Amino acid sequence: MNIKKICCIGAGYVGGPTMAVIAQKCPSIQVTVVDLNEARIAAWNDTDLNKLPIYEPGLAEIVGEVRNRNLFFSTEVEKAIEEADMIFISVNTPTKTYGLGKGMAADLKYIELCARTIARVAKTDKIVIEKSTLPVRTAAAIKSILDHTGNGVQFQILSNPEFLAEGTAVKDLLAPDRVLIGGDDSIEGQIAIAELAFIYSNWVPQERILTTNVWSSELSKLTANAFLAQRVSSINAMSELCEKTGADVNEVASAIGMDSRIGHKFLKASVGFGGSCFQKDIMNLVYIAQSYGLQEVADYWEQVIIMNDHQKRRFGRNIVKTLYNTVADKKIAFLGWAFKKDTNDTRESAAIYVAADLLCEQANIAVFDPKVTEMQMKSDLDLVLAGCDETCSRDVSMQEDAYNTCKDAHAIAVLTEWDEFKTYDWQRIYDNMMKPAFIFDGRNVLDRKELETIGFIYKGIGS
Ligand code: NAD
Ligand code: UGA
Repeated sequence: MNIKKICCIGAGYVGGPTMAVIAQKCPSIQVTVVDLNEARIAAWNDTDLNKLPIYEPGLAEIVGEVRNRNLFFSTEVEKAIEEADMIFISVNTPTKTYGLGKGMAADLKYIELCARTIARVAKTDKIVIEKSTLPVRTAAAIKSILDHTGNGVQFQILSNPEFLAEGTAVKDLLAPDRVLIGGDDSIEGQIAIAELAFIYSNWVPQERILTTNVWSSELSKLTANAFLAQRVSSINAMSELCEKTGADVNEVASAIGMDSRIGHKFLKASVGFGGSCFQKDIMNLVYIAQSYGLQEVADYWEQVIIMNDHQKRRFGRNIVKTLYNTVADKKIAFLGWAFKKDTNDTRESAAIYVAADLLCEQANIAVFDPKVTEMQMKSDLDLVLAGCDETCSRDVSMQEDAYNTCKDAHAIAVLTEWDEFKTYDWQRIYDNMMKPAFIFDGRNVLDRKELETIGFIYKGIGS
């Protein structure tokens, strides 16, 4: 096979870890990850591996092994494109915040900019790979831009969506359930598919490398995220019913999960799913369905988001109601700010929305998260509180340790399922809190019996 140099545009949560693993498994290929964000590239190049821009278990070790061997991080986007045989586009595809499709459609301006840059600087034939999550048929737009350069360069466009989950990215990349490659039926298309499949075959078993047409591949990615998010909204819908009926959602999840057709995974009731992708990808799916006039399909998927918003809201409302209908001037301790454990990513974290609701009730909030900085937490809140008036409290701070965070608090809200929370000295935490001391476990991760024995009033989700 012919690939000697790979360029990846976008050094984010997908580009960084994915290319680190490709570089580790394909030592003869030079992999260069480029980004316009100079600070991010500088952080990827930091000699202190604790300062990489992304926290993922196992990632620093791999980057330490291959960086400057055959993995490079650079801001020289054009140079890396020009030299590469294969280009991964791994830039962000956020929800549009303006114009047609505002709040729903994917904003493809970063993708188009990549395509135009490739079209402008490429002097040799290239395989261009959509790694970002994109609306079905985006490859046609990229092809149209690339094919109109008039400089005779041949491009093959493949769709190779990424299925890694944050917090387990390295594990997912090293042993993926499947690698999906969508390409053209033409001979050139099939050769391009074979080139990419060959790269993955260095560590992924052949039977896990699935090839399809481009449109199926693009749509499979949106479908996978929609199905996963739907399961969370489904169990969360049942959690509310459990709270009214005396059923326990954990027991219901275990019972239904034993049905091999349903399976155990992704049935954990929670304060609501977060993360940069579930909401954006479902809204994108809703928009696509609407644009084809498929209103029932659009409504069906939109309900997953409506349920998730409801779950986040009712968690905050439940805190207020339980604390005797007022949290004004009361300290509420937040354990966790990231949208799930083992990541420093806070995008769309449920914690942001719960905090905003409680601040509007004039609560004081102290936050502890093992991986999130105060600056990040405040910038998350600034965006959500921008439309609120001056009656909303802004009394929120990030603490260095959990014990100080909970000191003198009226209640603790568990927003992320960090493993270390289970190891705390809960008696000590209880002794230093206001009484009665409440715990609202938004992840159902703490030991209810132990906490109730100590004296806490424990409120889980769905029980
Ligand atoms: P991200 O925001 O962490 O990273 C994207 C990077 O692209 C940024 O650093 C940005 O500066 C850079 N960029 C944007 N335009 C550029 C350009 N023209 N030239 C050079 N760099 C540019 O995003 P992410 O989380 O890595 O997600 C990337 C894509 O992958 C999205 O489409 C997302 O839906 C998809 N995805 C994400 C995950 C995940 O777990 N985060 C998983 C699977 C798929
Ligand atoms: C998700 C998908 O799992 C990945 O396959 C996909 O590649 C990625 O989106 C993407 O396209 O960005 P991610 O968002 O990183 O990955 O993490 P998940 O493990 O899916 O969790 C998402 C959210 O759902 C988290 O807030 C998590 O706490 C919540 N969740 C998950 C639950 O509340 N209950 C569950 O049972 C599972």
